[in-house]
Amino acid sequence: MTTADLDSVLELEVALFGAEAWSRQMLAGELAQQPDSRYYVVAEDEEGIVAYAGLMTAGGQADVLTIAVATIRWGQGIGSELVAALLAEAARRGCTEIFLEVRADNARAQRLYQRWGFTEIGIRRGYYQPSGTDAIVMRRDLAPADAVARDAVGGAP
Ligand SMILES: CC(C)(COP(=O)(O)OP(=O)(O)OC[C@H]1O[C@@H](n2cnc3c(N)ncnc32)[C@H](O)[C@@H]1OP(=O)(O)O)[C@@H](O)C(=O)NCCC(=O)NCCS
Repeated sequence: MTTADLDSVLELEVALFGAEAWSRQMLAGELAQQPDSRYYVVAEDEEGIVAYAGLMTAGGQADVLTIAVATIRWGQGIGSELVAALLAEAARRGCTEIFLEVRADNARAQRLYQRWGFTEIGIRRGYYQPSGTDAIVMRRDLAPADAVARDAVGGAP
């Protein structure tokens, strides 16, 4: 993802996350940290950007910062491909573990992460603002072999 993608990404961001959407300033600030501690990717079709995801890496640890797929493209394996891309990049950067937060009421995203081998390690109460929704914290080990993107644990669609 580059700053040239920001208009399209923000449109999706607002449509998918509503009141909790990141601002243009926040996203631009994230992109400014590429490639050092960030890695943002987009997925495109002939009409433009349909999905994006972001990763933070530091000190051998990685964090999934965001994953978003346009609603009309859900259930086509795009989210899965984005998780695969982030895992591979985190492993290429030498990270040995990866974390993420996911809304407690977002079963779809939780299933996606479970398929990729993440397990729940805790809960952050009221993490998402302004709604005050809890976050489930998930974690997965990373190995050098993860640098080669592959299908999800338990069978890719
Ligand atoms: C969560 C999210 C990223 C998932 O993206 P997605 O592209 O729908 O994910 P996938 O297509 O890889 O997987 C979703 C489902 O489709 C199924 N699927 C994947 N590819 C498929 C295919 N080719 N044919 C049929 N089904 C398929 C998967 O098995 C999965 O089923 P399940 O939910 O019953 O486990 C997306 O719903 C989203 O953007 N949500 C809003 C933002 C959000 O919540 N982000 C996560 C924040 S932590």
